[in-house]
Amino acid sequence: MSEAPALAVAAAPAAATPVPVPDPTSPPASVAAPTIAVVGLGYVGLPTALALHQAGAPVIGIDVSERRLRSIRAHDVDLPAGDVTRLREALTGERLRLSSIPAAVAAADAVIVCVPTPVDDQRMPDPSALRAACATAVEHARRGQTIVLTSTISVGTTRELLVKPLAERGLAAGEDLHVAFAPERINPGDRTVAQHAVPRVVGGATPGCARRARELLAPTTTSIHEVSSLEAAELTKLYENTFRAVNLAFANEMAGVCTHLGLDPVEIVDAAATKPYGFLAHYPGPGVGGHCIPVDPYYLLEPLREQGVEIPIADRAMTAIAARPAAVAARALALLRLRRIAPPRARVLVAGMAYKAGVADARESPGLQIADKLERAGVQVGYHDPRVAAVRTAAGTELRSLDRPTPDDADLVVVTALHGGELEWLRGFEHVLDATYRLRLDGPRHLV
Ligand SMILES: NC(=O)c1ccc[n+]([C@@H]2O[C@H](COP(=O)([O-])OP(=O)(O)OC[C@H]3O[C@@H](n4cnc5c(N)ncnc54)[C@H](O)[C@@H]3O)[C@@H](O)[C@H]2O)c1
Repeated sequence: MSEAPALAVAAAPAAATPVPVPDPTSPPASVAAPTIAVVGLGYVGLPTALALHQAGAPVIGIDVSERRLRSIRAHDVDLPAGDVTRLREALTGERLRLSSIPAAVAAADAVIVCVPTPVDDQRMPDPSALRAACATAVEHARRGQTIVLTSTISVGTTRELLVKPLAERGLAAGEDLHVAFAPERINPGDRTVAQHAVPRVVGGATPGCARRARELLAPTTTSIHEVSSLEAAELTKLYENTFRAVNLAFANEMAGVCTHLGLDPVEIVDAAATKPYGFLAHYPGPGVGGHCIPVDPYYLLEPLREQGVEIPIADRAMTAIAARPAAVAARALALLRLRRIAPPRARVLVAGMAYKAGVADARESPGLQIADKLERAGVQVGYHDPRVAAVRTAAGTELRSLDRPTPDDADLVVVTALHGGELEWLRGFEHVLDATYRLRLDGPRHLV
């Protein structure tokens, strides 16, 4: 194991002491048990760190957020059951060290970058966290290291933020150290496909770089698909998620067609999905949330737009996706109007504040966006979600989840995410707008 610099250990808050920086020309400290730094311990980075730790690697988990590190130490994080056990074991041992000091990457033989790549208010890519993480990795890079980006990024980013600046430091990818891109495909809340069963795509700056990345990531997956370049791997991820965005936008459009014709959209998709080739089921819903589908396609669209290249189908899909929660809110208001219930008297309960079933993540959540739109229209908004205790609307109102809603609490329930099992209370409500299209109630339900 490499000689570790002064890092905070798992049980203690990270010290603000500077981390010694090894000589970039020194050889890697260990080949048998390389120390791996995982930069960014969020939905992607933490499970990655735990998988590598379980495989026997000494792991340095780095996150600039002390709050996140505190939550990890307190086991207060949203993880699948298997990872909860892994985390407990990792925190009681000595091979996982946690630090809020970015320069802690200097102690690692390999660095895996999993920081967020969001969009800003104008839906423009905001790679500032990635730039910072890459700049630190470059600054502390040394001969023999392997650096792998896993965040979703625009084509050319790994070369721009790692390969070129490393070369300027005299460290050539493929000769002095190894650089690769390996997009993450984690699907939070998915209980049907185990994470290690999901194949990973890897592209290296050189074939040697790809080989090193494959060795590094082998404990995280049962299968690795190597592509010819960094850029091929980068585009693969954007292709996958833009494909999903386009299909979800189309599924929503077709749901409107089905309801117009008096047909059940889910019945139609399920029937079409019996075709064993050429059809991939996508289901309509209240909109898409989370860190991927509402965000990633902009990392494809925006750079292309700057180059004068248009991809209208993807562009239209993203516009439709962004507009979907507003369409649900408009339908809710129309249903209330039909019953002559108007703001400020109107009360709506949103059932599901997580961005999808089975997760506690409310980022880009359709439920929250629908609540925002209704609040803006003057409606009294409440919500129920056993996985999300509280949220803040765009107007700054703090909403707290109602424990056991009753028909006295709202004139209309808008169902946006079904976690399963906890929706018995819904049966008491006469007026339900089902934006998941999946509710099976005794009484009538409205569709978008
Ligand atoms: N969440 C998903 O389902 C998912 C799936 C596939 C791919 N991805 C991609 O993986 C990447 C990470 O996503 P996530 O959902 O894990 O994000 P996240 O927001 O859950 O976690 C990112 C963590 O990185 C930390 N961080 C930010 N800047 C940092 C820095 N400079 N150094 C160290 N830590 C830093 C943050 O504090 C945060 O805890 C994104 O590019 C995302 O698009 C996410």
